[in-house]
Amino acid sequence: MDTITPLLKVENLRFRWPSGQRDVVDIPELSIQQGERVFIKGESGSGKTTLLSLLGGINLPDSGRINLLGTDIGQLKQSHRDQFRADHIGFVFQLFNLIPYLSVIENITLACAFSSQRKAKALVKSSTLEDEAYRLLSHLQLQDRSLLNKPVSDLSVGQQQRVAAARALIGSPELIIADEPTSALDADTREHFLSLLLSECEHSGSTVLFVSHDPSLEKTFDRSIHLNKLNRADVSRKIQQQEREQ
Ligand SMILES: Nc1ncnc2c1ncn2[C@@H]1O[C@H](COP(=O)(O)OP(=O)(O)OP(=O)(O)O)[C@@H](O)[C@H]1O
Ligand SMILES: [Mg+2]
Repeated sequence: MDTITPLLKVENLRFRWPSGQRDVVDIPELSIQQGERVFIKGESGSGKTTLLSLLGGINLPDSGRINLLGTDIGQLKQSHRDQFRADHIGFVFQLFNLIPYLSVIENITLACAFSSQRKAKALVKSSTLEDEAYRLLSHLQLQDRSLLNKPVSDLSVGQQQRVAAARALIGSPELIIADEPTSALDADTREHFLSLLLSECEHSGSTVLFVSHDPSLEKTFDRSIHLNKLNRADVSRKIQQQEREQ
């Protein structure tokens, strides 16, 4: 029996995109414990990014409940949900979502502009937010100080990926949600980047949800979730696909 309250608990979650013909997410139950490092896999189009957007309160489910840190995020007003996300979740998006005209440092420290809690936690680790941004970047092996004040659009894709990771990590949010955060890195750098990311999360006690197509990374995680087992919508999608092909 579960005696510890999970960090994240999902019940009867269903979601369909407004323009869609069918549910993309249909998950009866999912629990993630605090500090757990979870690897999520599934083929392209199986709903991984959609699921992460629901778990992070970016989109609201059509039905069901998402309880994060004891809060039912579906019950929060939009402005409270945005603040809750800024305080407690660090996202590394599949397409980074960095702000191109801001510098590297500005992109990273922006996460603290939206959350006084994260700002305070960042300032426990370093004396200024800029120093903390640089500490994280160095830890993610982007030590070149000359890059810090450049617009992020001047960086390579692999460098931008590390900036996106540092932005998610600054201020030690309780949950790190990372969607294909290593796709732009070469195989040699990938495992190294992952171990640096995970060690930073371990120091902060953050829980990690990590989506990737790369099976070689799976072994580093406490648990692996295959969306085609968890998500009933993915099973019905496959059945429909097979029927069309016959
Ligand atoms: N903004 C959107 N509006 C409408 N439909 C969407 C939207 N985003 C995704 N979808 C649809 O939802 C389904 C799941 O997409 P999703 O992006 O969650 O898949 P994924 O597992 O993350 O795929 P990938 O591995 O390629 O990133 C797909 O059929 C997709 O076409
Ligand atoms: Mg995706």
